[in-house]
Amino acid sequence: MAAGSWPVTLALGPVRLVPLTWLGGFRLAVLHERNKDWLAPWEAGSRQPPQTSRPALDRRAYRRYATQLRRIARLGVALPWLIEWDRESVGHLTISQIAGGAICSGVLGYWVDKDFAGRGIVPAAVALAFDHAMGPVGLHRLEATIHPSNTRSLAVVTKLGFRDEGVRRRYLRVAGNWTDHRVFALTSEDVPEGMVRRWRNVCAASAAESGGWPEAPLKNRTGAASPGPTQER
Ligand SMILES: CC(C)(COP(=O)(O)OP(=O)(O)OC[C@H]1O[C@@H](n2cnc3c(N)ncnc32)[C@H](O)[C@@H]1OP(=O)(O)O)[C@@H](O)C(=O)NCCC(=O)NCCS
Repeated sequence: MAAGSWPVTLALGPVRLVPLTWLGGFRLAVLHERNKDWLAPWEAGSRQPPQTSRPALDRRAYRRYATQLRRIARLGVALPWLIEWDRESVGHLTISQIAGGAICSGVLGYWVDKDFAGRGIVPAAVALAFDHAMGPVGLHRLEATIHPSNTRSLAVVTKLGFRDEGVRRRYLRVAGNWTDHRVFALTSEDVPEGMVRRWRNVCAASAAESGGWPEAPLKNRTGAASPGPTQER
């Protein structure tokens, strides 16, 4: 990972990607606990802490997972962010399995609180992460693997124009079963205009189609137009 590319906070309108800190890990664990049923059908067993019937233990286990993520981020093999909406913690986005050398690739993972779903938060977060990964971090390819029945996640990669690269058979253990996953990917050459610009164009087109901007993903709650992407360290 290129020097100076981590930790970094990225923002697009009300959506912010904030590097996972100790406190962020705590917030994430609380959020995860509140969303357990919403997330369970899609969570990979091998990457997640063991589920138990005692919520307090689950929360502690998720904090351990967050600590582990921060540790591997220091080694340069992951970029773990908390997603914020209007400065409220609402989800999680990670680029993991970062490989350098002749590969220069990473794998996207994401989720958002069920009460904040459907506002375009994750596509905006993916757009920010993608441009950072392809720019300052120096990656060349990002991929996302998605369960074939996860229509909401399929909608995210479709909207952003990810390429469907087929199916990985029995790829991930989800809820105790080895499940097929569809692979979606993009390289830096595929998005010469940048992903944030591409996402803005998608939003503008859907606004024109609907004759307005009813659910304005890139506007804040008061309806004010959002500024372009910003970066803080
Ligand atoms: C998949 C997920 C990350 C999408 O994030 P998001 O910020 O809601 O993304 P979008 O706003 O673009 O919505 C995606 C789709 O969700 C559906 N959706 C719309 N409103 C919704 C609502 N209120 N509640 C739930 N889903 C809704 C729509 O199908 C939408 O696609 P469309 O805009 O083309 O109609 C989110 O649904 C989630 O966290 N799901 C559970 C965990 C998960 O599946 N993670 C991904 C594993 S690969």
